[in-house]
Amino acid sequence: MSVTMVVGAQWGDEAKGKIVDLLSQEADIVARFNGGDNAGHTVVNDFGTFKLRLTPNGFSNPRTICIIGPGVVVNLATLSGEFETIRQAGIDLSQRLWVSPRCHVVMPYHPVVEAIYERAKGSASTGTTGRGMGPVYADKVSYNGIRLADLQDQGIFGEKLEIQLRVKNALIKASGMEELDFNHVFNQMLERYAQMKALVRESFGLVQKSLRENANIVLEGAQGALLDNTWGTYPYCTASTTISGGASAGLGIAPRFIERVIGVAKAYTTRVGSGPMPSELNDANGQILRNEGAEFGTVTGRPRRCGWFDAELVSFSARLNGNTEIALTKLDVLDKLPKIKIGVGYRPKGIRGDLAHYWEGEAEWLEDYEPEYIEMDGWMQSTREVRQFSQLPAQAQAYIHRIEELVETPISMVSVGPERHATIQVK
Ligand code: GDP
Ligand code: IMO
Ligand code: MG
Repeated sequence: MSVTMVVGAQWGDEAKGKIVDLLSQEADIVARFNGGDNAGHTVVNDFGTFKLRLTPNGFSNPRTICIIGPGVVVNLATLSGEFETIRQAGIDLSQRLWVSPRCHVVMPYHPVVEAIYERAKGSASTGTTGRGMGPVYADKVSYNGIRLADLQDQGIFGEKLEIQLRVKNALIKASGMEELDFNHVFNQMLERYAQMKALVRESFGLVQKSLRENANIVLEGAQGALLDNTWGTYPYCTASTTISGGASAGLGIAPRFIERVIGVAKAYTTRVGSGPMPSELNDANGQILRNEGAEFGTVTGRPRRCGWFDAELVSFSARLNGNTEIALTKLDVLDKLPKIKIGVGYRPKGIRGDLAHYWEGEAEWLEDYEPEYIEMDGWMQSTREVRQFSQLPAQAQAYIHRIEELVETPISMVSVGPERHATIQVK
């Protein structure tokens, strides 16, 4: 048996999708356990290029069961759109995709409520993806959520929807926006549910059976450790638990079964949305990273903020997640840089104080700190075609080893391109 978890080590978009797709070739199950369609996971394989928000990236292997676990919140329109996109690529998921009836449903009022809060916060807004994540998870924990199971019964759904619309519409009206119509929402949601109904089935029994049969299970995390609702840069974070500990609750798999925890880290740092980012570059090097790395959000198209690799952050997330290894991605994006920096810790801005750790402060605290850097030589040649570690330029090998030392975690894979095969397995 082997259970492998793949989690983001930074602020999301580390190329988790690519790594999961690679591992899915040997997987009996690939399961999502957190987040919703705020995620955007890109894979480039023999079937084409896919940017999936909800569907687990085991879809291209005909023997892999794909599970959307109960910790995920589901936007039914996104789910049916992806099902259709994948069907058009010649892959039928009707027997292989399982969606837990315990999943909470993103309702049409969730993005509206989110927009009201974002607008009220003005310059202090989170810069969300606009998919209603904060409000849907808030409804979940405050016992106001609507689950897929509720859509199975029109009477139950109608009662719950009526209560929610009464409360939500009061807020919507007070904010000068157009109230949502009960009949419209009721019919629209039931119609969407009817399209996806056959996939709604609880996966717990299947997962437990697979564990007994020593199956290969891959858990696909969304977002990254620094966006975690508890440990991330709150309130500039996301609504779910993005760290390895969340997988257990979000899928229903006991921690003792999880053997490998792969932290996916970019060879530099990016962030979309607001909040502190100590190693951010607002100069020509930042532009080079954005252009070479095509750093524009998968969900919103927003330019991603880019900066040097921040070893303090990745070291923190490696401890938090208990990473057994790191997959270092997008190394090729650094190919043209003569000098490359790595952040090794934080100091108060303008003061020669002691090095501080990320976990010592809050998001606002981090704004007053700047990284201490070390500088390394770049390699100034393409790594895109390299498939063996020993074939990498000496400076690239030195960069990888330095990150390994600073993060105190072995690097088991290095990615040098978006394609599945553009990967170096480090022996
Ligand atoms: P995820 O959310 O963690 O799955 O990551 P995203 O898919 O949002 O963002 C990663 C982007 O980088 C995608 O466009 C990938 O196709 C691309 N990508 C993945 N690995 C590599 C790599 O090693 N090099 C380059 N240049 N691009 C990569
Ligand atoms: P993947 O899985 C990068 C960010 C948003 C915003 C904050 C809150 O592709 O790595 P939300 O819509 O979740 O309420 O937004 O979190 N964010 C992500 N950033 N990758 C993601 O997912 C993200 N999901 C949310 O930009 O700053
Ligand atoms: Mg992404």
